[in-house]
Amino acid sequence: MEKQLYRPHFHFIPESNWINDPNGLCYLEGEYHLFYQHHPKSKVWGPMHWGHAVSRDLLHWEHLPIALYPDENGQIFSGSAVVDEENTSGLQEGETPVMIALFTHHQEGHETQSIAYSKDKGRSWTKYPHNPVIENPGLKDFRDPKMFRYEDVWMMILACGDHIRFYQSENLLDWAYVSSFGQAYGTHGGVWECPDLIRFQTEEGGKWVLIVSINPGGPNGGSAIQYFTGDFDGKVFHCDQPKEQVKWADFGRDFYAAVTWSNLSYPLWIGWMSNWQYANEVPTHPFRGSMSSPRKLSLRKVEGDYQLVQEPVDVSPLAERTESKSLHLVAAETASHKLSKQSHVIIDYEYPSVPFELSIKGEGEKVTMKFDPSTSNFSLDRTEVKNTQFSEHFASVDSISLKHMEDMELIIDECSVEIFLNQGTIVMTELFYMDTELFTLEWEAGDSEIKVDYQVQELSTALQKA
Ligand code: FRU
Repeated sequence: MEKQLYRPHFHFIPESNWINDPNGLCYLEGEYHLFYQHHPKSKVWGPMHWGHAVSRDLLHWEHLPIALYPDENGQIFSGSAVVDEENTSGLQEGETPVMIALFTHHQEGHETQSIAYSKDKGRSWTKYPHNPVIENPGLKDFRDPKMFRYEDVWMMILACGDHIRFYQSENLLDWAYVSSFGQAYGTHGGVWECPDLIRFQTEEGGKWVLIVSINPGGPNGGSAIQYFTGDFDGKVFHCDQPKEQVKWADFGRDFYAAVTWSNLSYPLWIGWMSNWQYANEVPTHPFRGSMSSPRKLSLRKVEGDYQLVQEPVDVSPLAERTESKSLHLVAAETASHKLSKQSHVIIDYEYPSVPFELSIKGEGEKVTMKFDPSTSNFSLDRTEVKNTQFSEHFASVDSISLKHMEDMELIIDECSVEIFLNQGTIVMTELFYMDTELFTLEWEAGDSEIKVDYQVQELSTALQKA
């Protein structure tokens, strides 16, 4: 068998070669469909296809044949899929509702939107004969359509460089432009990509969140996801935050292009766990790129401001061993805990305003998380990991403004850590490549005592067969 390098066990990866954005996420009859940007012949980005996998529990994934291949209209860039439960398209023949994918055709820089459909629950796909269904009005960037249902019409949101556009359709085949949003809002350090619009139920009623990936221009460099809160009236998105305000979904370097599943009763999303700054160089083999954990979304008011809250999929069905401990360290004391490279850690901090360091250690190398309440700063330092030479952008200290630390949840899988702070209101996703059999989690108290209760679940390592 080919040697595997840094292969995650429960995060989704392709059988081999390149992967980027999640595409076509939709739920049908117990199956979560995951399509993805894929180059099946190389570990670097190239002619894009839609790879395909399904899962019944979001932890075990079954690889299916490639769904969409490039054709005379171009490569198959990102897009979405819906289950046409009411047969608005008229394409359904038997009992099974049709799945409709709307994606970007990319032909030498020229982008248009096209359709493919499946009558057999995503197992085989037919391109619509009248593609493209949306011609390019003269824009350089015109891609990543995400469809959603609004009352009795279909809506679609599209990324157009420095703004997003809304389109509407009765039948998923004919689309009409309705409005635009964004030039004056948020941050424009890079191109806007992979939008989504999600409705949340809050105590004050319905609230909408508009998601936009941006590359580069992220808070810690390269690719990241910003979001806007507001209302949507079926045609126009009315943003209710100050124009210059920027809200980030994840402060880490490695969470991009996330979008939600359609035909689900609750908002659930997944992102590509990488960054365009070095995605083509990361030292994994025989695959390159992976998905994040699927995360359930909600919206919560924190200090008067709506914030996106992310809760990772429950990984406890994979737990082989669970251990709970309490720690009490006085100034500068340390304590450590051996960890499987597939671990789920939940930590409660009794004193939310005391400094500490928490490292994930290998042999003579480490990733260090540091909380400093005197400067309201939480950071993750991956400069003390040996394998960072593959890209000048990789070794970094990434930080977030954070006043207190109540709790922390870590999802660790071979070469990544997803950090959920204070009930998932702050999230940081980061890759690191350490050569070791086991990790050690090590606490170090700062100049005052720390008291924590924590639980470690060691997770099954036999999931995705090599
Ligand atoms: C985002 C993105 C999309 C595009 C796709 C191409 O990562 O650049 O905008 O559709 O990747 O692979």
